[in-house]
Amino acid sequence: MEQLSFLAIPAVGAKLTPEQAMRLAISEAAKGSARVSPNPQVGAVVLDRDGGFMASGYHEYFGGPHAEVNALKNFSNQQLQGAQVYVTLEPCAHEGKTPSCAKMMAKLPLAKVVFGLIDPNPLVAGQGAEILKSAGIEAELFSSADKKAEDEIRLLLEESCEAFLWNFRNKKVFVALKMASSLDGQVALRSGESQWITGPESREYVHYLRACYDAVLVGKGTVEFDDPSLNIRHSTISKKNKVIVIDAEGDLLHKFADLKMTQVHDSADLLWCVSAELSEETQKKLAKLSNRPRVLFVKTKVAGDLDLQDLLAQLYALGLRSVLVEGGAFTASSFINCSLVNRLYLFQAPIIMGSGGSLSWTNSVRIATMSEKLKLQNPRYQVFGNDFLITGVL
Ligand SMILES: NC(=O)c1ccc[n+]([C@@H]2O[C@H](COP(=O)([O-])OP(=O)(O)OC[C@H]3O[C@@H](n4cnc5c(N)ncnc54)[C@H](OP(=O)(O)O)[C@@H]3O)[C@@H](O)[C@H]2O)c1
Repeated sequence: MEQLSFLAIPAVGAKLTPEQAMRLAISEAAKGSARVSPNPQVGAVVLDRDGGFMASGYHEYFGGPHAEVNALKNFSNQQLQGAQVYVTLEPCAHEGKTPSCAKMMAKLPLAKVVFGLIDPNPLVAGQGAEILKSAGIEAELFSSADKKAEDEIRLLLEESCEAFLWNFRNKKVFVALKMASSLDGQVALRSGESQWITGPESREYVHYLRACYDAVLVGKGTVEFDDPSLNIRHSTISKKNKVIVIDAEGDLLHKFADLKMTQVHDSADLLWCVSAELSEETQKKLAKLSNRPRVLFVKTKVAGDLDLQDLLAQLYALGLRSVLVEGGAFTASSFINCSLVNRLYLFQAPIIMGSGGSLSWTNSVRIATMSEKLKLQNPRYQVFGNDFLITGVL
């Protein structure tokens, strides 16, 4: 779950409760959301020995310094005497692209480090805390006497790095589905026309969301109807992204060179998912195309649909950790039918398109009884211009 509004940074010396410190660390973490994947977003807050605010920091970009380093970097050992650090994720124990934060902090005269989540990475889990304890620094998982606040904060912590936690816990790609619909759930006219349903504010946020995920995925119909660029066009974020297209028969590959996305992406960043059961002859033809994307051959199911589990497993093997599915209707429904959507972002515009001549994003989802209805967990609501966004865990 990504956010756009952040908590105000307190004045130096302002007293913070542990709950306020951890909420601020979570808010700081979110500032890195568009640039850190596949790393988790992490935020840190430093308080003096009396609980007065000293500084905050966050992991700003993949490969860059970690949140703890950014929060602590401007202080001398003398200033940090007895200080406390609130950090959203257990400090790392291992050397990766940057040195171990636990080892760095173990050398400082800190009194306490409170972390929001135990790192699920087996190279860290519990070991970051052990390094700190061995150095005589109190290291503990965040808890609060106010159990309601603790539950709320724990949920925010889990949401703040949900893709990272999902990846480590399940060894699978995290899937978010984004759709823009009318009030009556329609995403396009049957003629294919769909631009634009939502306003510019929603669309700008979608570009931000694209930056938060490792790749954008669409079905063949969307490419045929819209010829979208699917790159990131945002006022403050400049980032290259990957695009995945489901095109079981490889039909669009023959006009690949003419597609808009081909003009704005490197071919290596475009992944085409075709059926592994394409005839040898067709496969040879595809291999001969001079200008073509990377082609993934995906298993098919009885009805001829691509096996989306196999597709996601191949993406995981390629190092992708999160995907934003952007439709269209058939593709969205396929992911829902296979129970593969982790998070939904549904933008709704204050318009009515009628179901007579349009497509709903759940077009081929069949719910037979109310007990089978799908329910969003922990829904959140945000307004963008005249539209609103509902997001939650599916
Ligand atoms: N409002 C929005 O948020 C939004 C977003 C995106 C698109 N749209 C609109 O939606 C419309 C397109 O929707 P759509 O439902 O027609 O097309 P789509 O979902 O983009 O593409 C559907 C096609 O993709 C392939 N496909 C998807 N999942 C597959 C699977 N599991 N296995 C095999 N093939 C799979 C199939 O191609 P084959 O034909 O080869 O079987 C299928 O016919 C357009 O009008 C577009 O403008 C709206």
